[in-house]
Amino acid sequence: MPRALLLENIDPVAVELLSSAGYEVESVRGALDEADLTAALDGVDVLGIRSKTQATADVLAARPELAAVGAFCIGINQIDLAAAAARGVAVFNAPYSNTRSVVELAIAEIISLARRLVDRDRSLHAGIWDKSATGSHEIRGRTLGIVGYGNIGSQLSVLAEALGMRVLFYDLEDKLALGNAEACGSLDELLERAETVSLHVDGRAGNAGLFGADQFARMRPRSLFLNLSRGFVVDHAALRENVLSGHIAGAAVDVFPEEPKEQGDEFASVLRGLPNVILTPHVGGSTKEAQHDIGRFVAGKLVDYVRAGTTTLSVNLPPVALHGSSAARFALLHHNAPGVLARADALVGQHGLNVDGQVLATRGQLGYVVTDVNDAPPPALLTALRAMPETLRLTAFPVRP
Ligand SMILES: NC(=O)c1ccc[n+]([C@@H]2O[C@H](COP(=O)([O-])OP(=O)(O)OC[C@H]3O[C@@H](n4cnc5c(N)ncnc54)[C@H](O)[C@@H]3O)[C@@H](O)[C@H]2O)c1
Repeated sequence: MPRALLLENIDPVAVELLSSAGYEVESVRGALDEADLTAALDGVDVLGIRSKTQATADVLAARPELAAVGAFCIGINQIDLAAAAARGVAVFNAPYSNTRSVVELAIAEIISLARRLVDRDRSLHAGIWDKSATGSHEIRGRTLGIVGYGNIGSQLSVLAEALGMRVLFYDLEDKLALGNAEACGSLDELLERAETVSLHVDGRAGNAGLFGADQFARMRPRSLFLNLSRGFVVDHAALRENVLSGHIAGAAVDVFPEEPKEQGDEFASVLRGLPNVILTPHVGGSTKEAQHDIGRFVAGKLVDYVRAGTTTLSVNLPPVALHGSSAARFALLHHNAPGVLARADALVGQHGLNVDGQVLATRGQLGYVVTDVNDAPPPALLTALRAMPETLRLTAFPVRP
């Protein structure tokens, strides 16, 4: 029976999916260090981790039988992707599962900032009755500027519009404007026209310091500002100055240039204690629903890979999905060099088999081809394919009845 090891308290739906795919699943609450992980991987085909377990090149080298690693989260820095790819270990993550959670928090914060809920709440907890409409607004009819119109930005656009906001966006790429949203030609144009600005750019290195004193200065007086993307995108000293001067009427920040490592560690930030500023500890995507969807999504990708060689949305292997119902299938991961496919197919023919279906994709130095054939490949064929100098990994899937 194939085995799966799931670490770091992964949602039970992943256990269910892998079990029903025929896996013996061991689920562990915590992370493991390198030595314990290497030992625990003895005889394991599929590993599931979150952010705290390091799948290093050494771990992967020590356990060549490992077929796939699932990162049950968004981030994949904890996995040596190149080392995994070179060994034919497919890595999957869950890039979209918490999109909705981030969007809902952003919506909640836009309304909270517009109504100065944080200040009202703080006053009342301090025993001060401060009933007034000063500084409180509906969001209906106001203009939201979304910077970065990807998965999160575009979904925020739809929900904000449903609440009656007018939506502008700016993205580096040409993006389809959803609903009545309007694309801006530049970041400056967006900043000059929007009353609430929300950042949803990705973490590329070029976005470091994207938003600083110049960008705040361009924003309309008494605007609201949100960042739920990456901490290093915003200059927090400049944000503090703009909140204190009143130019920015309120801000919500979920991500920070430096975040405490452990639960309960002290949080240091120049934004602490500012009026109408909501600070949250990077919880935009942290909901039960997102965790459940991550479990379902990543376990599904692992099962599709180990059952059929499907690498769609793998973060390190070329994307291949072959749909077919032939008797047998094998997958060949190889160095991307001229003539490999022709030689592999010639070997198939020499062993008396017919290719029923085949899909090849390449990614940098890697080529990956999944082949359906009309009968079970004889061991001599598999040996010959493995012996090709370009072969990195050959996987033969169980023959269909
Ligand atoms: N707070 C949280 O808990 C949480 C959870 C999930 C994701 N995130 C973060 O949210 C951000 C967005 O996630 P996503 O899934 O929508 O990513 P995505 O890759 O789908 O979208 C990012 C978009 O930003 C655009 N972009 C990049 N740099 C830009 C720039 N300088 N100016 C304008 N547009 C730019 C890209 O072209 C892309 O369309 C990421 O940084 C991600 O790490 C945060």
